[in-house]
Amino acid sequence: MNVIVTKDYAEMSSAAAKIVSELIKNKPDCVLGLATGSTPEGMYAQLVQECKEGSLDFSAVRSVNLDEYYPIKPDNDQSYRYFMNDKLFNHVNIDKANTNVPNGMTENPEEEGARYDKIIANLGGIDLQILGIGQNGHIGFNEPDEELVSGTHLVDLTEDTIQVNSRFFASIDEVPKQALTMGIGSIFTARSIIIMASGKNKHDAISKLLSGKITTQCPATMLNLHPDVTVICDEGAYNG
Ligand code: GLP
Repeated sequence: MNVIVTKDYAEMSSAAAKIVSELIKNKPDCVLGLATGSTPEGMYAQLVQECKEGSLDFSAVRSVNLDEYYPIKPDNDQSYRYFMNDKLFNHVNIDKANTNVPNGMTENPEEEGARYDKIIANLGGIDLQILGIGQNGHIGFNEPDEELVSGTHLVDLTEDTIQVNSRFFASIDEVPKQALTMGIGSIFTARSIIIMASGKNKHDAISKLLSGKITTQCPATMLNLHPDVTVICDEGAYNG
């Protein structure tokens, strides 16, 4: 595992944006695995900036997002589809038809999971997966548990996650209790992975990841089994 420790959030964002933009330049039709949350926002802002300056071209890029709340309408401003449009897709020249987010309105989550994994397979897998990390070590919405699931699936969010994510909602009661998430196997179709973390509240999860030990109780530790992972974290997340 490569580890890059940056001074702060801004440097973490630049380091990640540089890797993404180099990939797009080298492989214009690359498949990006994208994440939501506050962590990658700065990275998206830099990519938008580069595109506006004309040095980055998203016209052939394809994307698959990690997860989506369930149930949620795509035009709900807390949906991850809305987040992606708002933070990236509306501001770059990507073809939205080439962007994929799990359908938070599906009537059949099981079928939706299978459909989503087929999309990833038809794209030939993911070139670069961007990940954040939950305070409890979740990646996507793969929550700590006795077992982890390989494919894209419906998951019950833990009380911790509902609590942490309630900061984005008017009240905790409005946070969906479930989500659709790529499973560990879906994530592992990625040829390379970047996991980003900023701030002391991520220190515990990052320490577990970097310990090299693997436990389903901290799903990010599964990344120790992947051959090409880069951890980009700031000093707060690294040192605590
Ligand atoms: C969310 C998302 C994850 C994200 C994580 C951390 O619930 N499902 O994909 O990485 O929690 O979020 P943040 O970056 O806001 O700390």
